[in-house]
Amino acid sequence: MPKNLVALLTILVFFAVVIEACTKDDGGNNIAPVVSQSVQTGTASPAVSNPITNDTAIVGQALFWDPILSGGKDVACATCHHPNNAYTDGLDLSLGPNAVGYGYNRRFLKPNDVTVTKRNTQTILNAAFNGMDVGGKYVSSTAPMFWDSRTQSLEKQAASPMMTFEEMRGHAFSEAVTLDSLVARLTNIPEYRQLFKTAFGSPQAITAVNIGKAIAAFERTLVAMNAPYDRYQKGNKTVFTDGQLKGMQLFKDEGCPICHSGPMFSDYQLHVLSVPDNSQLTSSDAGAGGTYAFRTPSLRNVELTAPYMHNGVFQTLKQVMKFYDDIGEPISQNPHVPVQQLDPKLQRIALGAVEQDQLISFLNALTDPDFDKTVPVHVPSGLKPGGNIR
Ligand code: HEC
Ligand code: HEC
Repeated sequence: MPKNLVALLTILVFFAVVIEACTKDDGGNNIAPVVSQSVQTGTASPAVSNPITNDTAIVGQALFWDPILSGGKDVACATCHHPNNAYTDGLDLSLGPNAVGYGYNRRFLKPNDVTVTKRNTQTILNAAFNGMDVGGKYVSSTAPMFWDSRTQSLEKQAASPMMTFEEMRGHAFSEAVTLDSLVARLTNIPEYRQLFKTAFGSPQAITAVNIGKAIAAFERTLVAMNAPYDRYQKGNKTVFTDGQLKGMQLFKDEGCPICHSGPMFSDYQLHVLSVPDNSQLTSSDAGAGGTYAFRTPSLRNVELTAPYMHNGVFQTLKQVMKFYDDIGEPISQNPHVPVQQLDPKLQRIALGAVEQDQLISFLNALTDPDFDKTVPVHVPSGLKPGGNIR
């Protein structure tokens, strides 16, 4: 049993007390304690219907790393969301079935009919806080997921990659029978029967719903909220360099917090930025509801999660800063997006080379490298933890 999960129990007892003390039950939704500028470190507060226990998080960790959840038994969640890449894959567009390696080295060995996915892999770090408002409140059961916010809650999100052809499903079964097939697979493995029984109280507890609950419980342990910025907010003014101080001021002056607001540096709303298309894709990705809008990403740990934007089209933060400078003209960087459709808040942004570097040094102060990097040595299927990665 990983040490961090043992420690989790202690944290949970503490959080249970804090949450009990700070929240009112408003009819089913559990609201986290309100914090001003920075969020408490520890584990994200769970949805009421899915209390995190050490046991559910342990099942979730096993599932997250076990390629048994993919059609060809070669891809795990961790294949694309790997701790070595801050729970992303370091690629512009990710590769699922039939590929080998991970991080920048992941590739198809021979041509095949599985294509790259159409979007850049988002990090799981702090995804439990998705939807947090400027006051630090969030509601787990309605948390927006994906670049276009098409799914709500970690629990519901988990089924999606398993059912998607280019992410995990491959040719093994049809989308309609995917979840039933995976439940049958897990039910055949004695260690999973035992783990689900311990976590959910019944040997019949291996269900699609409980798979989602377990994975979500594990994901809520993946937090990284103790960056130099948080220490600065708590009063340690010496942690910032001159460049970072100037960068923080510029961040405000240029209007970045209009969208990158609150403790997570995101309003979790959809905006049209007109990011150029990724040339690997045969058609243009029109985002939420065909409007070319994408959800503002959190900027926490952004230093560790290149490439950037919904399609990974920018390799470096410097390229992102250059994009913001150019878009302020105003011109549309994506020929499919008329200038009038651009978010008007972008038009005031103009950044010289010095300003771009100062902003980047401020963004680097949002990095907390001290997150859980556990790679399990064993998963219950006996397959290779993290999938067919070499
Ligand atoms: C082939 C690579 C790949 C695999 C495997 C994969 N993901 Fe993802 N993940 C992605 C991509 C790409 C996105 C963004 C997709 C989009 O926005 O349409 C994403 C988004 C997410 C998000 C949303 C984060 C946010 O901030 O909105 C979560 C949570 C997540 N994945 C969890 C999982 C879980 C759990 C599994 C295993 C059941 C998994 N992923 C398997 C590539 C992958
Ligand atoms: C109008 C809202 C808005 C404003 C203002 C804004 N951003 Fe963004 N930002 C977004 C959205 C939306 C995306 C994702 C766009 C996409 O993928 O198509 C994004 C993406 C980014 C990314 C890439 C993050 C990642 O994980 O891929 C960085 C870095 C960033 N913004 C920094 C800034 C900075 C610095 C400023 C101020 C100069 C700023 N933003 C102003 C909405 C905004």
